[in-house]
Amino acid sequence: MKAIVMDGPGDPGVLRWGQVPDPRPGPEDVLIRVRATAVNRADVNQRMGFYPPPPGVSDVLGLECSGEVIEKGAAVPAGLQIGDRVMALLAGGGYAEQVVAHHGSVMAVPEGLDLVRAAGLPEVCLTVFLNVFQLADFPRGGGLLVHGGGSGIGTASMQLVREAGGRCYVTAGSDEKCARCLELGATAAINYKTEKFAERIATLTEGVGVDVVLDSIGGPYLEPNLASLAIGGRLVVIGITGGAQGTLDCGALLLRRLRVIGSTLRARPAGEKAAIVRGFLERFGPAIEAGRIAPVVDQVLPLREAAQAHRVLEAGAHVGKVLLEV
Ligand SMILES: NC(=O)c1ccc[n+]([C@@H]2O[C@H](COP(=O)([O-])OP(=O)(O)OC[C@H]3O[C@@H](n4cnc5c(N)ncnc54)[C@H](OP(=O)(O)O)[C@@H]3O)[C@@H](O)[C@H]2O)c1
Repeated sequence: MKAIVMDGPGDPGVLRWGQVPDPRPGPEDVLIRVRATAVNRADVNQRMGFYPPPPGVSDVLGLECSGEVIEKGAAVPAGLQIGDRVMALLAGGGYAEQVVAHHGSVMAVPEGLDLVRAAGLPEVCLTVFLNVFQLADFPRGGGLLVHGGGSGIGTASMQLVREAGGRCYVTAGSDEKCARCLELGATAAINYKTEKFAERIATLTEGVGVDVVLDSIGGPYLEPNLASLAIGGRLVVIGITGGAQGTLDCGALLLRRLRVIGSTLRARPAGEKAAIVRGFLERFGPAIEAGRIAPVVDQVLPLREAAQAHRVLEAGAHVGKVLLEV
């Protein structure tokens, strides 16, 4: 089959359309004819050589896809059938005509959700669900601060938090992106280039702070993130875009009973991912069916133009997901 391959790490120009062996499903897997995949920040990091795939995983990029089931292993439950329209969380391999996914990482695409658009749902929605709702126990009606409001993660956070009756505060790097985040349902959007976000959060929450911060910036944000939390609040670090090292005020941690959590989704075993998918569908499945949760799409490009899609992500002007259609 055809896929996007790379001859080695480097700039987007290393991505090219090439030939790879057809993937074969194991007993617990389905084989999906890929309709679309999506570009995630992790793909950019992997392309640059900073984020190798977990052992045993395809070195073709792509952490999610949508498409149609064309083959199933002997141990795949009867609920998944050949011909089903599905979207799947992948450990890799999505930038291809076909991909293998464990049945526990596969979700049905409801009638009302366009199959191409569905490709942008699994990675960001499951990441937000795992980190904000499962690990940080986001309370109904609570407050979340998420950095990069215009990112795939940011736009998914707004939808899930709104569904939970909560308030979603975001940061973004321009007034234009802040305005777009407000249109998409952010409670408030803070331009981190012109304002100190911890001070704005204090004002916006009348000195209380938020229940949860979802952070992808890392070290430099450790202190203002903790300052943004309410007593008993949880900081979840899912990225280190700004650097890995920071200074942790242990005094604040214990006096204000804060918790700091770190997490990645990709390297988790199939059983853990299946439990995350089940929990997500139980909680948010009805909202997906009803169309209240659906990926915000910045643009759709042909899969062959993956290099251009990576340039779009690296330029950072996008809001929502950049999709690749096969
Ligand atoms: N641990 C996990 O399991 C996991 C899973 C998925 C994603 N992630 C992480 O989550 C992050 C978002 O992923 P994505 O694919 O949704 O990314 P994305 O769509 O590429 O967006 C990333 C955005 O972060 C913003 N940003 C950069 N520096 C910032 C700063 N100092 N303060 C606030 N925002 C800043 C940029 O927008 P501005 O113009 O606003 O600066 C950029 O557009 C990445 O770091 C990714 O690695 C982690």
